[in-house]
Amino acid sequence: MIEALQSLQKEAISALDQISDAPALEAWRIEYLSRSGKVPQAMEGMKSVPKEDKPAVGKAANELKKALSSAFEAKKEGFESADIELPEDPSLPGRPYPRGSIHVLQQTRDEMVSIFRRLGFALAEGPEIETEFTNFDALNTPADHPARNEQDTFYLDLEDHPKEGRKLLRTHTSPVQIRTMLKQKPPIRIIAPGRCFRRDEVDATHGMFFTQLEGLVVDRAIHLGHMKGTLEFFFREFMGPGTEVRFRPHFFPFTEPSFEADMSRSDMQIKGKKWTEIAGCGMVDPNVFSSVGIDPEEYTGFAFGIGVERMAMIRHGINDLRLFYENDLRFLSQF
Ligand code: PHE
Repeated sequence: MIEALQSLQKEAISALDQISDAPALEAWRIEYLSRSGKVPQAMEGMKSVPKEDKPAVGKAANELKKALSSAFEAKKEGFESADIELPEDPSLPGRPYPRGSIHVLQQTRDEMVSIFRRLGFALAEGPEIETEFTNFDALNTPADHPARNEQDTFYLDLEDHPKEGRKLLRTHTSPVQIRTMLKQKPPIRIIAPGRCFRRDEVDATHGMFFTQLEGLVVDRAIHLGHMKGTLEFFFREFMGPGTEVRFRPHFFPFTEPSFEADMSRSDMQIKGKKWTEIAGCGMVDPNVFSSVGIDPEEYTGFAFGIGVERMAMIRHGINDLRLFYENDLRFLSQF
């Protein structure tokens, strides 16, 4: 009998050791300690023990009961102390939970996109890792062009592809023009915002990466007036009425003629200057059309690239580009 009690104790303790949650602990209590559990049952068995053995068996049975009860209590206490502590006064207000907001650059980009969408532009996309073909060659930028220099562009250390050339981080969003024209026939009217990369020294107005918004329109009889009207509309919508835009002759390999667009407002001067450069643009060069299989005799088009950081800086009076990327909440929470 004593042996049976000891082996019951062993069994119960080892079962208790395995338990790791409250419901299992309660099931254990019912199995061993409840009124119809195994311990009271064993005590019941005492009745049939010969009289002279009763004191010893009784003592063993009591010890068993005590040992299991205290083991149970200890386990239970362990679980309870792990429970979440409630505040003393549950009616106290909760802890403030900081709310995030959309990054000022993303806000700027979204707003730019929504203005162009109102003009019927569709959103297009391209990868940040580009090929020499899409980033340069197809954009009429020959192998000896300075922009292709190792000092200006991040090349990836991957094998050359015989047709597409080396892989690189795109230096502008203009390769999305090529990708779009390769898979879609005119009429085309797209914008493509995205991140670009150049090996610039980092300072207040230059970074190793920045965001552009590319635009491309291709159709029959598209002319310079369409481009000027589109950009003037965009800048007035974005900056408010009274915004003036001018176009200065410039050079880009993939547009002919090419321009830089400047913006001016009577209530604003940047670095003491009346005019601020805001975009590159021009009429799509016939060589670009030829490289994507569009007939330049039939179609014409215009393209532009607007700096998103530049737009946000002008709009909010931000004077240092690095603020956009430092993730300092004192700066970001102002927008
Ligand atoms: N890709 C040019 C740049 O990064 C901008 C541009 C886009 C110019 C489209 C003309 C047409 O400077």
